[in-house]
Amino acid sequence: MNNVVLGEQVIGSPLALAPMVGLSHSALRTLVTEIGGAGLLFTEMLSASRLPGDNPKVSPLLIKCDQERPLFYQLYLAQISVIDAAIEKIEQLGGEGIDLNLGCPAPQLRREGAGVYLSSDHPKLIAILLALRKKTRLPLSVKIRLGESSDKNKFVDYCRMLEDAGVNLITVHARFNTDKFCRKPHWQWVAYAKEAVNIPVFANGGIFSVEDALNCFKVSGADGLMLGRGAVVRPWLFCDIAAALKKGEVEKRVWDRKEIFNRFFELLQLRFEGNRQLGRLKQFTTLYAESFTFGHSLATAVQRSQSMQEAKNKADQFFEINPYLEETK
Ligand SMILES: Cc1cc2nc3c(=O)[nH]c(=O)nc-3n(C[C@H](O)[C@H](O)[C@H](O)COP(=O)(O)O)c2cc1C
Repeated sequence: MNNVVLGEQVIGSPLALAPMVGLSHSALRTLVTEIGGAGLLFTEMLSASRLPGDNPKVSPLLIKCDQERPLFYQLYLAQISVIDAAIEKIEQLGGEGIDLNLGCPAPQLRREGAGVYLSSDHPKLIAILLALRKKTRLPLSVKIRLGESSDKNKFVDYCRMLEDAGVNLITVHARFNTDKFCRKPHWQWVAYAKEAVNIPVFANGGIFSVEDALNCFKVSGADGLMLGRGAVVRPWLFCDIAAALKKGEVEKRVWDRKEIFNRFFELLQLRFEGNRQLGRLKQFTTLYAESFTFGHSLATAVQRSQSMQEAKNKADQFFEINPYLEETK
């Protein structure tokens, strides 16, 4: 694979951890960094208007440690007036890139006209991108969906517009604006973006295995991949994909699921205050437990727990009763 160059930065591996609310926090970012293979990390989406007032020592959205690098901060916004303070804060925090969320359809973003709702207002979007570009020398990336309709020309023009506004990386979540995450992603559309622009394009959506990753590279011709849920189901997936890219073959490595679960548990305790840990453990475990047999019983036991200690006891019991976990799917 060629190196991916984003503005003045070179990324060591073309594999990125996606921004995901409640999941792409310091504990998960540290876990995947420790396991290896990821070359780019994203925060979960942050409100550009609230960010300047957040305390990085206590805000679970901002807590991080030095090894989580390179880290891009994802913003959602719909007003130029909030840009300067948000960028200054990200630069103070040592952020290495800015990502603008143009793909999220959540109701809270609809109210503000941010996320996917900003993506359809091109004059406003261009003004916002130019203001971001003017304010910072950090790489500027955008995370987009395919649009409202299957109009390829419209999508390609949109990608060119983003490039012309100074964007350094386009990540395409290969689903249409209203598609649910369970819909099959359209990786072929990433190839349309790739052919249309001269900046790096990453593909996102539906990558849960090394085979998916290799297939996605082949179909999309993307410069890199962004993994969302797949990185929680298998936090070692970056490492396995990176190895396959290097060696040119898929190696079936066996990972110690108990050890990785315990390390994540420990990282939650290290990074977050007591009352911020259990919710994040539950959210993680629901996905993490999908990759092995009987995982649903671990997920249910953790879901029902009232405290971290109870969750840990139940997880210990689960791993004791099920020492040989077989891969699902
Ligand atoms: C729980 C959850 C939270 C998410 N939060 C964000 C977010 O903050 N910003 C964003 O751009 N996308 C967000 N997404 C979308 C993911 O980044 C990604 O585009 C999507 O999950 C498809 O990729 P995947 O199939 O690899 O999971 C979220 C997805 C999930 C499942």
